[in-house]
Amino acid sequence: MNDFPAGMVWLVGAGPGDPELVTRKAERLIGLGTVVFHDALVGPGVLELAAPGARLVHVGKRSGRHSKDQRTIDQLIVQAALAGERVVRLKGGDPAIFGRMAEELSACRTAGVPVRICPGVTAASAAAASLGASLTLRGLARKLTFVTAHARTGEPLDLDWKALADPDATLVVYMGKAAAADVSRHLIVAGLPGSTPVALVESASLPEEGQFHTRLDLLPLVARTALGEGPALLLIGAALADSAQPSGRANAVTGTACESAAT
Ligand SMILES: C[S@@+](CC[C@H](N)C(=O)[O-])C[C@H]1O[C@@H](n2cnc3c(N)ncnc32)[C@H](O)[C@@H]1O
Repeated sequence: MNDFPAGMVWLVGAGPGDPELVTRKAERLIGLGTVVFHDALVGPGVLELAAPGARLVHVGKRSGRHSKDQRTIDQLIVQAALAGERVVRLKGGDPAIFGRMAEELSACRTAGVPVRICPGVTAASAAAASLGASLTLRGLARKLTFVTAHARTGEPLDLDWKALADPDATLVVYMGKAAAADVSRHLIVAGLPGSTPVALVESASLPEEGQFHTRLDLLPLVARTALGEGPALLLIGAALADSAQPSGRANAVTGTACESAAT
């Protein structure tokens, strides 16, 4: 299939970390790239899918530790394509979800570089699967909202808290670790009960994954004391209630973590 000629860019979703959650299409494209520009959150197992001679370029951004700014990344991928490389821009999860994909797409289009998108499994799907939870529930969670709690340094979180404090919805907060206390406070002030179930999932799909169950009013404490250095999601809403029931390995771990976090 010649959908990846020289001089082209594919924006590829790498999934949440587990190499088995990479799509077959992504695997094929990664293997065809002559250069792979990848984020910090792309797991080592996924990078192993690159061809032996391919150049791997780390352009990752983790909060507070930006190694390359977005404009530089846009330029790098465009220049590589114009130089005749087959460019894979490998992004954690799904590139279209909090992935700054639009800028890269636009930079390629402006430069006349052919560009396409390969979707990936987003972190919320991986976290829900690990929890054994459904993000939507008939009659209980009719709406699913993905929101980012990332704010520019020094700026307050500017979100529509009234709309987010919806008892019939599941709210998944990306990049919410540092802002967990604000998220909890704002949602409670906007009317969501403090007893609303919350699950925190760190490094979803990876061997070091951690799951923690709590309630909205205790979220700041659990986020502060239980979470480590890995990427984490906050999942909030009635749909998360059942995932806290002990039913397997992960939930047994959860019970311990939750107890120690609350003491
Ligand atoms: C810049 S966003 C990228 C999201 C990505 N495009 C996706 O679809 O999952 C990075 C945030 O995604 C979440 N995230 C990414 N991978 C994760 C994982 N394996 N486990 C938990 N959260 C993850 C964290 O909230 C992290 O701060």
